[in-house]
Amino acid sequence: MSAAPNIPAPDIRRLTYADLPQVIAIERRAFPTPWSLAMFVLELSKPSGICLAARRYGRLTGYLVCSRYDTVWHIMNVAVAPEERRTGVATALLTELLERVGDPAARYTLEVRQSNAGAIRLYERFGFRGAGTRRRYYQDNGEDALIMWRTPATLNGSLDDVPPYGPAHPVTPTP
Ligand SMILES: CC(C)(COP(=O)(O)OP(=O)(O)OC[C@H]1O[C@@H](n2cnc3c(N)ncnc32)[C@H](O)[C@@H]1OP(=O)(O)O)[C@@H](O)C(=O)NCCC(=O)NCCS
Repeated sequence: MSAAPNIPAPDIRRLTYADLPQVIAIERRAFPTPWSLAMFVLELSKPSGICLAARRYGRLTGYLVCSRYDTVWHIMNVAVAPEERRTGVATALLTELLERVGDPAARYTLEVRQSNAGAIRLYERFGFRGAGTRRRYYQDNGEDALIMWRTPATLNGSLDDVPPYGPAHPVTPTP
């Protein structure tokens, strides 16, 4: 995918509490309404979640937070340091998530700002498809969220196994 020449693939490992100061620094540059430290601590404390850190030359370049609710994996947060974008960091994080879940029947969902064309393109490359909107989901500007799913059906071009009303769990807005 976005393998820029001469730039090594990032090293992907589990995200830990020790990474959080660097995570917060990226988070504040990535989103208009960044998550608080407490929100990351809460996500890291969930035993069924998968939280990943990407590093290049030992430095944190991006992270991904994913929670499991019942049978659905919910991608809660993905961000890459601005100067490291378009070099395959988010691709490496998502690839590792799919590998760690390791279940071809798994279903994944996320919300993304409708204006975030780059992120939507990234998710589409992984087989996510838009399946509805959440009206005025983002409180800072009242923007709608596009709900995306990646399921066995979306990988085959349909939405047949996507729930009609979105994920049935309390949702923390993706920032
Ligand atoms: C969205 C984001 C996570 C992408 O991270 P990234 O590491 O730059 O993504 P990758 O390099 O793996 O990109 C893979 C592909 O996704 C698509 N893509 C990613 N960013 C894009 C952009 N800004 N514009 C258009 N396409 C984009 C491209 O198809 C890209 O492949 P290419 O570079 O070969 O064209 C990053 O831009 C970011 O942190 N944005 C701010 C936070 C955010 O919006 N997070 C998502 C919230 S739901």
